[in-house]
Amino acid sequence: MDRDFVWGVATSAYQVEGAAAEGGRAPSIWDTFCRKPGAVFNGENGDTACDHYHRYREDIRLMSELGVGCYRFSISWPRIFPEKGRYNPEGMQFYKNVIAELKKYNMTAAVTLYHWDIPQWAEDLGGWENRESVSWFTEFAEKCFENLDGDVSLWITHNEPWCASFLSYHIGEHAPGKRGLEPALRAAHHILLSHGSAVRAYRAMHGSHKIGITLNLSPVYAETDGFADQLARKEKDGYQNRWFLEPLFCETYPADMAALFAARCGTRFDFIQPGDFACIAEPIDFLGLNFYSRCYVNYDPSDELLAGNPVSRMKKTRMDWDVCPETMEDLVREIRGYTALPIYITENGSAWDDKVENGRVHDPERVDYLRRHLEEIETLNRKGLGIRGYFCWSFMDNFEWAHGYSKRFGIVYVDYADQRRIPKDSFYAYRDCIKSFRGEKAAARLTGE
Ligand code: FCB
Repeated sequence: MDRDFVWGVATSAYQVEGAAAEGGRAPSIWDTFCRKPGAVFNGENGDTACDHYHRYREDIRLMSELGVGCYRFSISWPRIFPEKGRYNPEGMQFYKNVIAELKKYNMTAAVTLYHWDIPQWAEDLGGWENRESVSWFTEFAEKCFENLDGDVSLWITHNEPWCASFLSYHIGEHAPGKRGLEPALRAAHHILLSHGSAVRAYRAMHGSHKIGITLNLSPVYAETDGFADQLARKEKDGYQNRWFLEPLFCETYPADMAALFAARCGTRFDFIQPGDFACIAEPIDFLGLNFYSRCYVNYDPSDELLAGNPVSRMKKTRMDWDVCPETMEDLVREIRGYTALPIYITENGSAWDDKVENGRVHDPERVDYLRRHLEEIETLNRKGLGIRGYFCWSFMDNFEWAHGYSKRFGIVYVDYADQRRIPKDSFYAYRDCIKSFRGEKAAARLTGE
């Protein structure tokens, strides 16, 4: 990795902050969803989470011991706009404090504007299905740019639009828990449009740093080379990857998928208006990629997308995701078919059964996962594939959405009973990787290309 490679850790607001009713914050769709019986494992919620809202100083000190140069966190929209059109400066102050603390240690901030917590007031007005969400989001984005741009090195408009749309409106596993293809397509479109609109707003105010979007893309493999399995592969790739890559980089949706969706749900795509694609494809400075695993499919005619989920023989994490760093190359090459932009791995990590033993957490599987992915990134960069940074998911164990607190992704263990932080073996392994990859340089600075 070269000297400008950005080393980081990542979290998101609802997953770590807690303080759900403090600082003037109003509920988001996740506060509501968590109260829905059966929606979240054990009926858990993010009311307290890791109490990062009160403990960010301690957490950032620990990050500095890790040696990362950048902290990726997200801004809780309902802290900033607890009601439609009402700005809450107290909410913004929290993020100013976080950034000031980072500066003390010579660290920079990578800020995600939307990590899935649209305010409940917006949801009550139709949420992402309502085209007005684009202007609500742009207003929120502008406030964040105005107040924080001086010290933010990377702006990420959205985290994983696939999850915020298909997983939330089609599969129904995430808030707001709807199950319809048409609502998902509508939500996805408005999310993408709000991304483009925020980028335009940032350019209009001469934002001085980099702005991009983070997608969760997965390379898709079929069980066999047979025609039907290969067809399933193509549909899954369209659903997961191309539905987002094509509008962002080619100013259109993939025609094959549009035809499939129209056949499935009768959508007329009437939510698309002239000029939308030009807005969505507004030039950005980088692409964020969250990479965890691959997709593995076979043909299943009973599935809406014709894709079933065969079980592979690969080693699996506690999420049941294949451990397959070697598949990153296929994915990055697919991305390179769309864009030559710098890529930041804005999330990568794994969940395992962690136990505290004599005050230590031994997590050899996470250490192995981390090292193998970093080695793979180095290999990709040697091949000229342009990965500019790596953010480990996650800095600490946290609220893992529908899985509640049952899945631990942190390199720091959180004892939820007393909020004690215990760095796991993977914390020290990551620290050593950073040292060896970049020499003894104390802080990574985001400099140029
Ligand atoms: C990603 C999310 C992140 C976390 C990890 C495990 O999809 O962006 O919040 O849940 O998965």
